Amino acid sequence: MPDGLPRRDFLKTSAVAAALSAPAILKAQNANEGLNIGWIGVGTRGYAGLSWLHTAEPNGAVVTAICDTYTGHLARAKDRIQTMYGITPKTYNDYRELLADKSIDAVFIMTPEHLHHDMTIAALRAGKNVYIEKPLAHTIEEGFDIVREWKKSGKIVQVGTQNRSSSLYKKAKEMVEQGMIGDIHYVRAFWYRNSPPNDPAWRYVVPPEANPENTDWPKFLGTAPQRDWDPHRYFQWRLYWDYSGGISTDLLVHQTDIVNFVLGKTVPATCMASGGIYRWSEATDDRDVPDTLSAIYEYPDKFHINYSCYFGNVHYGYGEQFCGNDGTIEVLNRQDLNFYPEKYRNAESAIASRPEIHLNGLKDFQEQDGAINHFRNFIEAVRGQGTIVAPPTAGQEAAISGHIATLSFKHGKKVIWDNKAEKYQFV
Ligand SMILES: NC(=O)c1ccc[n+]([C@@H]2O[C@H](COP(=O)([O-])OP(=O)(O)OC[C@H]3O[C@@H](n4cnc5c(N)ncnc54)[C@H](O)[C@@H]3O)[C@@H](O)[C@H]2O)c1
Repeated sequence: MPDGLPRRDFLKTSAVAAALSAPAILKAQNANEGLNIGWIGVGTRGYAGLSWLHTAEPNGAVVTAICDTYTGHLARAKDRIQTMYGITPKTYNDYRELLADKSIDAVFIMTPEHLHHDMTIAALRAGKNVYIEKPLAHTIEEGFDIVREWKKSGKIVQVGTQNRSSSLYKKAKEMVEQGMIGDIHYVRAFWYRNSPPNDPAWRYVVPPEANPENTDWPKFLGTAPQRDWDPHRYFQWRLYWDYSGGISTDLLVHQTDIVNFVLGKTVPATCMASGGIYRWSEATDDRDVPDTLSAIYEYPDKFHINYSCYFGNVHYGYGEQFCGNDGTIEVLNRQDLNFYPEKYRNAESAIASRPEIHLNGLKDFQEQDGAINHFRNFIEAVRGQGTIVAPPTAGQEAAISGHIATLSFKHGKKVIWDNKAEKYQFV
């Protein structure tokens, strides 16, 4: 089969189609439900995502084109697609060329944060439906640009905050809506990690053969400040403000997003954040972003999130604890949901005697996390068979929390968010 033959053209070739034994491909053709997918960014998340999409939609969505500026990742992804779908995808170094392919119905964008804005806007203008990884964008202003472009476009856009598609979090939402924990004014959320001294946080392996040519350094930089080739910045972009908001936009946004989802909230009114580079502070480590961050959020309706993240101790792991007046629901490590009734002194027995509940994602829902469901939700929405659970408006609300935490941390001041004016100020 010629390299890069579009899937539709390929299926038109009847002799080849007849020879196809993969039921997945035949079904897509017969049921007229096949979608051609373009994939921009096949690094860590993008490469894993290729398999998840195949699991989510083995029959109806085929990755026919991939784009990445690092040739090593491009070759690896091409190989994986050949194995999974039995076709050879078109390969691109320039995402604009992929977007010009009219046969592509939807794109998954899994590139560094600072590229999300330009790629998503270009994809919408090219008439594509878009799955864009979190955070929606690198700045508040860029996020609003995407929201506006999405509203104009009439296209489906799903943001990669996949907890919304996890059965555990849906259960938590249902339990809250049933009133199981009473009024909720307070959530604790945290993400703790650790790693050995010779494996610093977010210092991912730089492939030894990487160079400015086989990574296309200018395309990686995009509109970020120009500078000389730096493989650490390319492969460890999360550590530098030019390309990432660090903990705030890489991790925290998942958690503010899911609190919004479970409790029906939108954006906080204030944020105060502090932290620093405490654990990974060797003189040779030139990271910009903190490895320790706490953020306190106040919402307009008497509601508070107490968030903390530290990269030097993993004991408490990952979690959100919804602290209601009548009980607590916590989701830990995206795998365990626990409900505990309140048992304070003289608590009504109707409250205190409720049995505890313990659910496990794998055991009770056969789910590792929500990613596969989230992909399926996107594809079904593109087909007009459902509604997306993480539209850009929700992605932007979660991202605003992340961005104002970064602003508060960098300026050492409390941030007030004016949601009507879509502006912040420091106090
Ligand atoms: N939802 C989640 O749980 C989750 C988890 C991990 C990562 N992510 C998100 O996924 C995105 C990617 O993260 P990652 O960890 O895979 O990063 P990564 O560095 O491993 O992969 C990024 C890929 O983009 C490629 N790239 C860089 N510039 C490009 C350009 N101009 N055009 C095309 N390709 C380009 C790189 O070569 C690389 O292969 C980020 O937005 C991240 O926040 C989400």
